[in-house]
Amino acid sequence: MIFDTHAHYDDEAFEEDREELLAQMAPAGIGGIVNVGASVQGIRASQELADCYPFIWAAVGVHPDEVGTLNEETVAWMYELCRKPKTVAIGEIGLDYYWDKESRELQKQWFIRQLQMAKEIGLPVNIHSRDAAQDTYDIMKEHHAGTTGGIIHCFSSSAQMALEYVKLGYYIGIGGVVTFKNARVMKEVAAAVPLDRIVVETDCPYLAPAPNRGKRNLSLYLPLVIGEIARIKGVSAQEVEDAAWENAHRVYKKLQ
Ligand code: NI
Repeated sequence: MIFDTHAHYDDEAFEEDREELLAQMAPAGIGGIVNVGASVQGIRASQELADCYPFIWAAVGVHPDEVGTLNEETVAWMYELCRKPKTVAIGEIGLDYYWDKESRELQKQWFIRQLQMAKEIGLPVNIHSRDAAQDTYDIMKEHHAGTTGGIIHCFSSSAQMALEYVKLGYYIGIGGVVTFKNARVMKEVAAAVPLDRIVVETDCPYLAPAPNRGKRNLSLYLPLVIGEIARIKGVSAQEVEDAAWENAHRVYKKLQ
């Protein structure tokens, strides 16, 4: 079975047909999905999805683009949600220097605060890092290393950096990008990271794999990602699927 470790089914792209789509998951072999919060509204919606569907779990966190809305009162509410049985991670949290929607100082401050929450509660993290590889790594090493672990979502740095995160105890999230023809670095990452440290994710509705690139992404397309990792590693697709399933359960401990 396939486990999607990072999805956004609360996104408005699914407004029209969400129920119909989610009904197709189990028959297609998608056995589990973590719906990841990005904003306060996304956190609330992820909880609702987890309440409604037995195969959906929730992550609680605020994306670096949205940290301007955070305050300690909201954080207190997030602590409460983290204690619910179906909240399996803190995420997505991190740094985004590509969009730079919030000041870098503010991004760092709330990234560290949410890492602290993860440590206190004992939940793994789901990390978003864009054009901020070194700062992300430094903060994680200083504030989170060797504690609860987590996933570097939509990993986009070098193979060397991926192995540094593996050494810190993290898993590498691989999604649609690995299937793109020009994605040389991602293919190197897939080759370098050991199979017991890889999880697969959609980040849907974004980043659909080839040949659906540019379309709305769905967990139903994950076999394309798994197939490409298998090709790169020279193993069977079933082997990748099984390893990624097992890894998802190892990192998101509350699934077990
Ligand atoms: Ni995401």
